Amino acid sequence: MRIVSGMRPTGKLHLGHYFGVIRNWVRLQGEHETLFFIADWHALTTAYRKVSELERNIKEVMIDWITLGLDPEKSVLFIQSRVKEHAELHLLLSMITPKSWLEWNPTYKDMKYNLLRIRDLQIQFRGGLRDVVREFIGMIPYKVEDFERFEERLLEDLSETFISALFEGEIERDILKRLNVSKKEFYDTDTYGFLGYPVLQAADILIYKGEGVPVGEDQLPHIELTREIARRFNSLYGELFPEPQALLTETPRLPGTDGRKMSKSFGNAIFFSDTREEVSTKVMKMFTDPQKLRKNDPGRPDICPVFSYHRIFSEKGTVSAIDRDCRAGKLGCVDCKKMLLENLEAFLEPFREKRKEVEARVEDVEEIFEEGSARAREMARSTMEKVRDLMNLR
Ligand code: TRP
Repeated sequence: MRIVSGMRPTGKLHLGHYFGVIRNWVRLQGEHETLFFIADWHALTTAYRKVSELERNIKEVMIDWITLGLDPEKSVLFIQSRVKEHAELHLLLSMITPKSWLEWNPTYKDMKYNLLRIRDLQIQFRGGLRDVVREFIGMIPYKVEDFERFEERLLEDLSETFISALFEGEIERDILKRLNVSKKEFYDTDTYGFLGYPVLQAADILIYKGEGVPVGEDQLPHIELTREIARRFNSLYGELFPEPQALLTETPRLPGTDGRKMSKSFGNAIFFSDTREEVSTKVMKMFTDPQKLRKNDPGRPDICPVFSYHRIFSEKGTVSAIDRDCRAGKLGCVDCKKMLLENLEAFLEPFREKRKEVEARVEDVEEIFEEGSARAREMARSTMEKVRDLMNLR
């Protein structure tokens, strides 16, 4: 089976990346033909303001991939934007993809939902501004013809200006936090490119005639869409693309240090590049059962993030002993964390060493991805010839 998958370069990799996808990729490499790429164009669908960080982020991902065991002898490792054919196929697939398929995509719907929330916010501000506006109109030395309409227009304009100012950072940033809204989720992603995100992803997969796509569960709608686009292409122009399947594997639950999903933006991630001291600080600050305040209070391991980590990094015997002693109020969180730190370090330390070695010969890493991109280009080129043929293009 030919396997294709990609990852957006958001910077250094953390444990969540490893247990979520990378570990599966590493396993698949021996048994199948595998292509893995850094989806830098996809990163631009949201982070287009931060192009200055792109190169560094790509480099970090390249280093981490090699560190974690992706092997250029077994896999084609490359960078999306170095294979321009993806863009050509994206364009052609965009011609045959109904807009409604994209608008119904859950990721996009989420974003739209956020846009609705901002509309809500605006309506709230409007309410708050009404009295001020009335007073203001009262001060105007001219007679206003249609008072109500005039008031409405002022309110609309004012609240809109207020929202823009809020997002432009002209009003206390705190307010955004308190309202639990992020700038990125709103204005920034209301673009053509973001809507087309899944079409680009379909092109990424289909251009290599990928059959299996190892991804996290959140990507399932995108793979389904890829299948639909493939079917539509095949029925319009002739059989060319296989319908790819998502390959989901059991992934252990590994939350961030605060119990939420591990993510760089939450500040709750443990990175492969972290030093022992950094890991130690993060572990000792980890959230635990909030009802276990003192060493001798009984705890609930099933809701404790530290315990989720023990399940992965500690031996079976240790895990059941912790489970027992925590519930019995015999094990305090500090001791429990110290044990975790040792076991987690036993896992991280070899990678940390390897990472240093890989970093020291970063030119070799560059070359791996340059060669990989050339190989990918060959494959993509040959598919594009067939695509053009079928579509009567040259
Ligand atoms: N959307 C994927 C993610 O965010 C990244 C990605 C881009 C991808 N193109 C792909 C994954 C093609 C699999 C196949 O994780």
